[in-house]
Parts: sequence; structure tokens; C-alpha cells
Amino acid sequence: MDPTGDIPAPDTARPDTARRKAGEPGVPEEATAPVGIRVRPGGPLHGELEIGGAKNSVLKLLAATTLAEGRFTLRRVPRIADVTTMTELLESFGCRTSFSDRDVLHVHVPERLEPHASYDLVSRMRASIAVLGPLLARCGEAMVALPGGDDFGSRPIDMHLSALERLGVDVEVSHGYVHARADVLKGEEVSLAWPSVGATENIMMAATAAEGRTVIDNAAREPEIADLAAFLNRMGAEVLGAGSPTITINGGGPLAPVDHTPVPDRIETAVFLAAVGIAGGEITLRGAQPGHLRMLCDKLGEMNLRTSTIKGGMWAMAPHRLRATEIVTLPYPGVATDYQPLLVAMLSLAEGVGLVTENVFANRFRYVGELIRMGADIRVEGRCAIVRGREHLSGAPVRATDIRAGAALVVAGLGAEGETTVRDIHHISRGHEDLVAKLKSLGADVAWVPGT
Ligand code: EPU
Repeated sequence: MDPTGDIPAPDTARPDTARRKAGEPGVPEEATAPVGIRVRPGGPLHGELEIGGAKNSVLKLLAATTLAEGRFTLRRVPRIADVTTMTELLESFGCRTSFSDRDVLHVHVPERLEPHASYDLVSRMRASIAVLGPLLARCGEAMVALPGGDDFGSRPIDMHLSALERLGVDVEVSHGYVHARADVLKGEEVSLAWPSVGATENIMMAATAAEGRTVIDNAAREPEIADLAAFLNRMGAEVLGAGSPTITINGGGPLAPVDHTPVPDRIETAVFLAAVGIAGGEITLRGAQPGHLRMLCDKLGEMNLRTSTIKGGMWAMAPHRLRATEIVTLPYPGVATDYQPLLVAMLSLAEGVGLVTENVFANRFRYVGELIRMGADIRVEGRCAIVRGREHLSGAPVRATDIRAGAALVVAGLGAEGETTVRDIHHISRGHEDLVAKLKSLGADVAWVPGT
């Protein structure tokens, strides 16, 4: 519930209320789901808030629970739609999931699982493919719907599949499903053509059950990879080198359930840094891990946003108008592609001309047309966006095209004269917990737009 708003936030993490209509038994009359977010420029932001657990860690940790029978506990779990989808997927395998507190999630994994991930669930969230490796490890077989393309392009899973084949898995793709089977998984050397986050995670999880040693060369180095390795090691696995380009997994040992707190969400952290950059002010982000955002903070420094590490989090201040710079997205430790829409929103209001090169996804500028509707001066040429900063944008009705673009449009609205309404907020609800309430707690003029 948005504590300061007039209507409740979409409670996507509670499917029982989120999917029922207002007025049905047990659902209050005012529970009409909001259809948009309304933003007005409200002056500088001040205050502090708590950063939640990283979506992109929690989803993989939930997938990894299927590796062992018993009761797992995950803390600092964000109440977002993607977590709901992952818990539904686990339940479809036979697991039971429940929250015992606002952010403490328990997963009970039975002795036998049904290793079948249906298209209905996988098509809601690409990260569902993360169950392929652990299901193979635990059951020796898995049938997982192909995730298909999404908002940033075709997004193949060829690297996941060829790496699993190297570990001895028979893979067949037919009728929209990956059918994978391995009587015995065998440790091998796997060299990735690109440090894919998802492929690294699937191999790591499958390799925990492989005989002997698996070495992943050119592995992804994101903090969420190191978090997954820490989780697996706590379960009893032996995963070495996570966070570096070479990860070694000595497989085959017994695994047991654990209690774990995931790393904080660096992308959520970036949303509030962008918000203060655009609106001005001074904020504290408790629980944030600035060490995970080093390259971003260097760039933000060039753009006139000051950040520093403080005990238990980070501090940020925007004393002047933003200044343009050049940005290139790269796998970690580079500036993450997920920050890109936020940075383009900031550059739209910065002094000078910014240049943004997107290196990770082929088609991640779809939202730019929405920023242009708000008066931004942006030209996209292939993988580059040339952004000529304006003193102000002008508020307009716009549509979120994906999770991060949606958040970027909301923060852009803080620097737009008049009123901006962001529609298609189901994208935002997939990955950003309490965005409206958190921005409001910093003094932003933001509210849910009620459904009719
Ligand atoms: N790729 C292939 N073949 C593969 C795998 C990846 O060609 O088998 C390509 C992709 O098409 C893309 C690039 O490699 O061009 C990088 O993809 P990667 O596998 O690293 O990304 P992912 O695992 O699908 C995760 C995050 C994304 C984040 C990327 C990059 C999750 C659930 N998703 O995706 O986060 O942008 O890594 O860091 O962890 C988000 O949270 O909004 C989001 C999109």
C-alpha cells in the first residue's frame, strides 16, 4: 500500500489480491488497480530511503532453491511482479512458497519435482530460463518453454544450450520448448563468446551436480553472479572465482537449504540517483552498495552529481544543473545497459550534447520516442543516441516500454514542466518496488493514476 497516496499501489507480489477485482469478497472497494503514474516537477528531493534486494539476484536464487530438498529463507526480497512469477513457477514444480514478513520469503522444496516450466509462466518473464540449469542438476531432465524475444530484440539462449551440451546434456528444441536430459552431468571447460549473465548462471547451477571440475571462461562478473556463487557455496557447493572472468565449480557434493540475504539492487539505486540528478537535492540511500556502481558513479561525477560512500549506504547531491558526457554500456564492471534509459533521461536535461553507445542489447532505445514526446532532443543512429540537453522537458502522456525505461520516464517527469503520466506501468511493477511511495518519501510530486 502506498502509505501517502490516495489509492493503493498495485500489489503485484500478492497475486490473490492483485488479480481480483475491487468489490470481490475480501478485496476492498478502493483496490482498483492503478493504470498509470502521474509526475509533476516538485523541486529538489531530500531525505533517505532503503534500497531493496536485487531483482536480478533474487530471481536466480529462487531458481537455485530447486537444487536441494528442504526449506530455504530469502530476506530483503522485493515485492515485485517478477518475484511473484518466479514463485508461481516454483509452485508449478511442486514447491511451496510463502512470505513470513513483508520481505522474508520461504521456499519449501519437496523431494520430487515436476521439471516442467510452462509457456504461460516463461512468456511472462525471460528470467524463467534460469530454472533450466538447476532442474537438470536436480532431476536429470527439464522441459522449459523457450522465452522468445522481448522489448530489446531477439535475445537468444544459444550460449546457455551449447554450454549445457558441453556438460553432457542432450538438448532438443521442439514445439516451442527446450527438452533437456542428462543421465550424468560431466565437468568441462566452457568458453563463452560473450560474458552472458544468464548463461553463466545456468552453467554454474548445472555444474554443482556435475562430476568433476567445470571451468567457465569469459564468465559474467556482475555482483549478482558473485551473490549466486555465495548462495551455492553456503548450500555446500564449491564455486571459486565468481566476480572474475574465470569461474571454477567442483561439482557433485551434497547441497542443503540455506538462509540468505541477497545483494542490494544497484539498478534501483541508480533510479534514485537519476531522480536526484534531475530534480536536484540531497538524498541518502540506506543499504545501497556503492562498490557495485563504481563506473556509474564516475560517470555521474562527470555529469555534476556528487556521490559518496557512507556507513550502511550511500549519499548523493546534485548542487548544479547536470552536464553532458559520453556513455558506453558494457558488461560489469562497465556501465550497465540497465542504467542506459536513466542516463538518457538525465542527458535530456543536461547542459551540452551527450553520446550514448549501447553495446549489450541490439534494440534498447525503443523508449526514446516517449522521451521525444516529452520534448527531448534525441537522435538514434544504430547503437548510438545523440542527446542534446534541454533546460526543461514538457510533461506529456507516455508509455513504459520495459521495466527500466518505465522508471526512466517517471524520473524524466521530475524535470518536465506540467504533468507527465506514464502508462503501461505493469512493466514498472515487474521490477521496481514501491517506486511511487519511495519517490514521494523524498518529496517528489508523484502519484498513482487510479483505474476507472
Ligand atoms: N546473448 C546471446 N545468446 C545467449 C545469451 C545472451 O546472444 O545465449 C546476448 C543477448 O541477446 C544480449 C547479450 O548477450 O545481447 C547479453 O545478455 P545476457 O545473457 O548477459 O543478459 P540476460 O541474462 O538475458 C540479464 C539481466 C538483464 C540485464 C542483462 C545484462 C536478469 C533477469 N536480466 O539478462 O536485466 O540487462 O543481464 O546485464 O538478470 C532488467 O533487469 O531489466 C534486465 C533486462
